[in-house]
Amino acid sequence: MIPRPSFEQPLSIAKDYPLFTEEYPNVSEFIEVARITEFGEGQMKKVMAGSREILLARIKERYYAVDARCPHLGGDLSEGTLHDTILTCPMHHSQFDLRDGHVIRWTDLSGIRLTIASRQQPPQSLKHYPVRIEGDRILIAHE
Ligand code: FES
Repeated sequence: MIPRPSFEQPLSIAKDYPLFTEEYPNVSEFIEVARITEFGEGQMKKVMAGSREILLARIKERYYAVDARCPHLGGDLSEGTLHDTILTCPMHHSQFDLRDGHVIRWTDLSGIRLTIASRQQPPQSLKHYPVRIEGDRILIAHE
């Protein structure tokens, strides 16, 4: 059984590499996407990991990486708003928890309009990626 990713992520985990590898057996490599000096508390920005657009955020000394495009209709989440680990899409205000990408709210519709919209585009979690910190380098899993 594959263990769930831990949300506990110290700033420097270099000494924990063997443990980290055991937690993510399907991760073939980590690639550098940014430096910790680029982020203040509560900041997020879009970075590239190969050809993937990734949204990287720092919240309470931890870093989270998720797809930068909303799974609803592709809104640019780097233009959304962030409150603690809750990310809100700028287009139709779906909300996701950055810790694991789960959906908190699917669009800002309600009632029958939400039912119809959810049938057309069922709620879908935001893909998230393991993050590793090496010194001041931020690396994310590259599958
Ligand atoms: S595109 Fe993000 S909520 Fe619609």
